Amino acid sequence: MRIRSAVPDDASAVVALRAVVYPYLVRGVASTRQMIAEPPPGEQWVPFVAEVNGQVVGWASAYRSITTSEPDFGEISLLHVHPDHRRRGAGDALFGAARQHLDQLGIRRVRAWALADSLDFARKRGFEPTREARYSALPLDPPPPGEPVPDDVRLVTVTDLDDRRFYEAHIAASADEPGDVPADAISYETWRYEVWDHVALDKVASTAALVGSDVAAFSLVKRDGARMWSDMTATMPQHRGRGLARLAKVTALRRAAERGVTVAYTSNAESNAPMLAINERLGYRPVATQFACLATLG
Ligand SMILES: CC(C)(COP(=O)(O)OP(=O)(O)OC[C@H]1O[C@@H](n2cnc3c(N)ncnc32)[C@H](O)[C@@H]1OP(=O)(O)O)[C@@H](O)C(=O)NCCC(=O)NCCS
Repeated sequence: MRIRSAVPDDASAVVALRAVVYPYLVRGVASTRQMIAEPPPGEQWVPFVAEVNGQVVGWASAYRSITTSEPDFGEISLLHVHPDHRRRGAGDALFGAARQHLDQLGIRRVRAWALADSLDFARKRGFEPTREARYSALPLDPPPPGEPVPDDVRLVTVTDLDDRRFYEAHIAASADEPGDVPADAISYETWRYEVWDHVALDKVASTAALVGSDVAAFSLVKRDGARMWSDMTATMPQHRGRGLARLAKVTALRRAAERGVTVAYTSNAESNAPMLAINERLGYRPVATQFACLATLG
């Protein structure tokens, strides 16, 4: 077994491995390849793979979080090992490589996510679970029924939006999203990378609800073929309580279904009662739980 930096040509193997451990995540070969080839600017993001006889059996990435005002906060992301290759030191070696990279960046405060079975692995390495996220799935054959549109609301695809105005709406809506650190430092460049220019963003299915010229609510669709991920659904604080998040999301799901999507996935903080209620009413069913874990690495 050896640990090495991932290269763009690892993308298919990395996606195949991820599908075994996290079948509900939606990131295809094209977007994985692009992320490895052109990492997010400013994050000092580094991907590692574990390889056995030329086969990719594990993955982890490590980076500085630049979307929060909390200084020197980092992430070890999606550390996972193929079930057939566990308990042979690959996970620990990937963890060591990720940790060394964060050390070099001067980062001590670190977040990772763990499945229930792997909480002991995380705890032994200094992490403590802080909160849960629920992953849910909704088959779209048929999609949920359409909803009536209030007279003052106009539904548009996000291609109709000015990207700067949409960025500002996204920032305003993200401010109170539950998290371990505030998401209060998302730059326009980072947003362009993560959202607007992302190869998987389906800008025709992604939907915004306008009230006058205000973006009142929106729901984003990222796709990998016939599978989709609801990247973010949100309503601006001043437009909440009118069902606009559900309206935007139902419309986005229906448009995605028309465009060939057969199953939708999403994740929500267990503390995000309004979004969980919307998803349950739409028919989403839980498929997995992950635990956010924080550590102060010595
Ligand atoms: C967590 C995970 C990455 C561990 O991968 P792994 O390759 O099994 O990890 P390792 O083999 O390095 O270590 C696992 C345990 O096996 C032990 N081990 C290592 N080599 C061993 C061997 N030859 N024989 C028996 N046990 C061994 C390690 O000591 C370790 O035990 P410890 O946690 O008590 O120290 C893997 O279980 C996984 O993919 N989980 C799902 C994703 C997830 O939740 N990740 C959490 C990220 S924090």
